Amino acid sequence: MIIEAGRIWVRLGGVEVLRGVEIRVSQGESVALIGRNGAGKTTLLRTLMGIVRPYRGSVKVKLGNKEFDVTRLKPHKVARLGVGYVPQGRMVFPDLTVEENLEVVYGGKVPSDTLEWIYTVFPELRKLRGRLAGYLSGGEQQMLAVARALVRKPKILLLDEPFEGLAPRAVARLAEALRDIRAEGVGLLVTEPGSVKRVQGVAEAAYGIDRGEIVYRGPLEGILSDPVARKRIWGFE
Ligand SMILES: Nc1ncnc2c1ncn2[C@@H]1O[C@H](COP(=O)(O)OP(=O)(O)O)[C@@H](O)[C@H]1O
Ligand SMILES: [Mg+2]
Repeated sequence: MIIEAGRIWVRLGGVEVLRGVEIRVSQGESVALIGRNGAGKTTLLRTLMGIVRPYRGSVKVKLGNKEFDVTRLKPHKVARLGVGYVPQGRMVFPDLTVEENLEVVYGGKVPSDTLEWIYTVFPELRKLRGRLAGYLSGGEQQMLAVARALVRKPKILLLDEPFEGLAPRAVARLAEALRDIRAEGVGLLVTEPGSVKRVQGVAEAAYGIDRGEIVYRGPLEGILSDPVARKRIWGFE
């Protein structure tokens, strides 16, 4: 599966938020989207999910020899094609247990092989399956937020600032789990506000975004030495 945005333009509240953005993520590859706050990362993920509509350009999902126009699909249909989404801010239901959080998102009992896969990726959650989500640590809640996106067995997973506000140990643990998910053939697109280091263990390629424009595309390692990306994302030459 491939998801790609072809020169998309998005305007929100009269503001040009995405300006001719081109991005492409394939199943089995892991890509970081790096840009400071307000750059347009969340809007781009929401557009890829069909939540936000571009007024120009297209978003396509290619599956085998079929092609789907995301700009004509409802978000739940995009999800059903195999695109998972972990929104920014790990919005789990605090008054439901870990397992109930998974069931609510699935809409019933999660198939046992899927549940087994999720608990293999996150053994922590197996131990906490009966605990109310509101009592989990930040790192555990983020694992649950990712786990919820796994119940539909996505082919490509979009994660919006998954490392935000996590302690270094929780960052390392989540990165390890994302590598495991990736090893199962799931494509990843991970947004990150500024630290190349935090996504280093997870992504090998990167896009840089600034003020709604893609300012870098290439190997993750190259973004820090790219003069345009340095200037526009971090403000130094
Ligand atoms: N609903 C909205 N109405 C008006 N402006 C918005 C709306 N949502 C986001 N924006 C603006 O779009 C820009 C990009 O926002 P966002 O996609 O959330 O960036 P990021 O996720 O990179 O921080 C910001 O300047 C933000 O203020
Ligand atoms: Mg954001």
